[in-house]
Formats: sequence, C-alpha cells, structure tokens
Amino acid sequence: MKPFVHQLFIEQSPAVLSAPLAGVTDAAYQRILFECGAPVVSTEMIPSAALALHPAAATKILQWQHQVHPINAQVYGTCPEQIATTLRLIEPYRPDTIDINMGCPARKIVRNGSGLALMNDLPRATKILRAARQATDGPLSIKIRLGIIPGEMSAVAFAQMAESEGADFITVHGRYRTSYSVPADWAGIAAVKAAVSIPVIGNGDIFSAEDARRLLDQTGCNGVMIARGILGDPWLPYRVHRFLRTGILPPEPTLAERFRVFSRHMDYLFELKGERRAGFIFRKHAAWYLKGFPNIVHFRRQLFTISRPEQFYGIVKDILESYRRVAID
Ligand SMILES: Cc1cc2nc3c(=O)[nH]c(=O)nc-3n(C[C@H](O)[C@H](O)[C@H](O)COP(=O)(O)O)c2cc1C
Repeated sequence: MKPFVHQLFIEQSPAVLSAPLAGVTDAAYQRILFECGAPVVSTEMIPSAALALHPAAATKILQWQHQVHPINAQVYGTCPEQIATTLRLIEPYRPDTIDINMGCPARKIVRNGSGLALMNDLPRATKILRAARQATDGPLSIKIRLGIIPGEMSAVAFAQMAESEGADFITVHGRYRTSYSVPADWAGIAAVKAAVSIPVIGNGDIFSAEDARRLLDQTGCNGVMIARGILGDPWLPYRVHRFLRTGILPPEPTLAERFRVFSRHMDYLFELKGERRAGFIFRKHAAWYLKGFPNIVHFRRQLFTISRPEQFYGIVKDILESYRRVAID
C-alpha cells in the first residue's frame, strides 16, 4: 500500500475528505479548510484539455503548492493523452492523491464527453484510467455516481474496472443523474463497496457527524466525502473526523471564531483574485457563513452591495458589535 493510502485508510481510518466543489474549493477555501483541520482537502476540477494545451496555466490553477496538504487534485477530461499530460504537469506541485472525475453532470462538462458522460462509455473510461495510471505512481482514484439513469447501476462495473486498472481507491456519490431533491442511495453505495476490495469512499447527504457514522455503518465504506456540508462550515470535516475516531464531537466554533475565519477567508480571496472577482465570489460564501444567524438580514443585504475589502471589514465589525451588544443585553 502506498504511504498516503496507508495513512488515509489505516492510520487515520475512517478517511474523511472534503469534496471537490467547482466555484467553491479554490485555493483560498482550500487554505481555510486546511486551517480548520480538514484531514484531506480537494481542489476544484482541473480541466485537462486546457492544461494540456496551455501548460503555463498550471501555475495559476495549482496555487495550493506548499500551502495545503494533504490535497486531492481532481482532474477531468475525455482524452486519455490530455489526462496523462495534465497528471505530469501536476506532479511538481506535489498533490497527495489524484482523482479523475467521472460523475459531473453539468451540461458543459458532459457535452464534451467528460464527467458523467464517461459512465456511458466504459471503454473510454478504462483508457483514461490506464493512461493516468501510466502517468503517475502516486495514489489515484476515480469519482463516480451510481450510474446515469435511475435504477440502471453501472457503478459496480466501473468500480471493478478501476480496481483492475490499478486505482488505489474510489469515491461513489450515491446518486444517478438526479437532482439533490432525491436522497442519496446509500444502499447503492453499499453494493459497490461489496463488489471490490480496494477502499471505497461514500458520498452523498452528509451534513453532520451522525450522518457520516450512519453512512459508514450502512455501507461498510472505508471513508466519507463531504460536499455541500462544507459550504459556510469549514470546521465540519475536522469535527466529523474526531467524532468518528473518538466518539466525541468537538464543540461548534464560537461566534468569534466564525467571524475570524470568515474575515481570513475574505483576505485570502482578495489576495488571490483581486478586488472585483473576490467581492463577487465572497458574497456567495458570506451567505453560507451567515446562514441561520439571528438578526442578520440587514447586514447580509449590505454585504451584497459592496466590493472593497475595507467595506467588508466594516460590516463584519458591525455584525460582531451587534452580537456583543445582544450578549450583554
Ligand atoms: C457547487 C457544487 C460544485 C461541485 N463541483 C464538483 C466538482 O468539481 N467535482 C466533483 O467531483 N463533484 C462536484 N460536485 C459534487 C460533490 O462533490 C458531491 O459529489 C455531491 O454534492 C454530493 O455530496 P453532498 O450530498 O455531500 O453534497 C459539486 C457539487 C456542488 C454542490
């Protein structure tokens, strides 16, 4: 077993990974997750077609270098050679593990034959994984769904293919090409787990430590991946991990800690993306961080109208001050 795979599935078992989330897990949020104790952080999806054609883009996309480890770098594409080229380009940035996306249902990804479209094309998926396996000796996985059409499960065949092509583990999102309103099918994940002997990570509908425990109990998986649960809650992977290891759930972060991290996230984003883009991206995160906070509507409205870091700091200060007043009152 490769050292990182051993670390993930033996030393730190059960594994807890925070998921790749396009438009969310950029270098700024990767760093925040890492600082909040997430055991393994994922990148956004890395486009192999773009990287293979413009290798210089690697430095811009792969900004986690030396900052965030362990990191799971996720790549997508439809051409085995481009995937292999991308893996070689990524190697100097020292990803701890590399994942090939075979489950993204977004139209612009599927239209080009990548992501979930690959689950309609086992021979191509096999060639992609084979090319990837030849390009790297490091830990390698695929992330799949149960299949495309509900009830027509192809995940078992894909998992077995992955095992025979030398993947070190797989991640299974327990859905077909269905919306989030349909609950994740954990029994489907269990069927995949039972069909292979490489480690399987279960994904879908984990929003708490108890959810993670139940998924592991019901599927026999070797770990969990948390996706929407990390929106506005970068502490969740650490808390889930501690709970699974010790049975004790660490306390929720205090209000002050939430705002500290919220502000730091903002700093990283401004540093990384520049004023205009950072402001735009941060509003999305702000809404997630502030979800469920009492008396926040007025501040949230303000956050949505501003773009410069000083304005953000001013509002965050006002929010904290108002909460302090409430606590004193
Ligand atoms: C905003 C958003 C972006 C996503 N981006 C990716 C991605 O880049 N790669 C990927 O494999 N899955 C992506 N997913 C899917 C998640 O990783 C995960 O498989 C799915 O949300 C189910 O997990 P959950 O129920 O914990 O959210 C994305 C999901 C969301 C909501």
